[in-house]
Amino acid sequence: MSRTLLIVKPDATERNLIGHVISRLEKARYKIVEMRMVRLTEEQARKFYAVHEGKPFLDDLVKFMTSGPVVPMVLEKENAVLDLRTCIGATNPANADCGTIRYEIAVDIEKNSVHASDSDDNAKIEIESFFN
Ligand code: CMP
Repeated sequence: MSRTLLIVKPDATERNLIGHVISRLEKARYKIVEMRMVRLTEEQARKFYAVHEGKPFLDDLVKFMTSGPVVPMVLEKENAVLDLRTCIGATNPANADCGTIRYEIAVDIEKNSVHASDSDDNAKIEIESFFN
């Protein structure tokens, strides 16, 4: 079993899609082992996305991620990190495969409804940034 972090982003919480995302994840056999709802501060959002420092979309991304509540959760499953990336689809929903969460509900490349860790190492760091 391995663990990864998923965040339901403000565009999805605002449209009452938290339950939809959770239902998709449970049907895909993820076990939710931790979950909370939080409003990120600018500092927290910048720290979380520090890897994107210097990218042209960072300021808008921070504004978006602090615009409403987010729901981070720790998910457990075999091969959790890679499986979840497949399950949510490409960053840009225009390129997301049919049947993925982003294909179904994402608005655009920024308001793409969910975030998922991209490696086991980052999953550990990202989980620790929300949960003890
Ligand atoms: P996420 O998987 O959380 O990782 C970084 C986020 O930056 C991404 O989803 C999008 O919400 C946002 N973003 C906005 N523009 C871009 C872009 N051009 N390329 C990648 N990510 C972007």
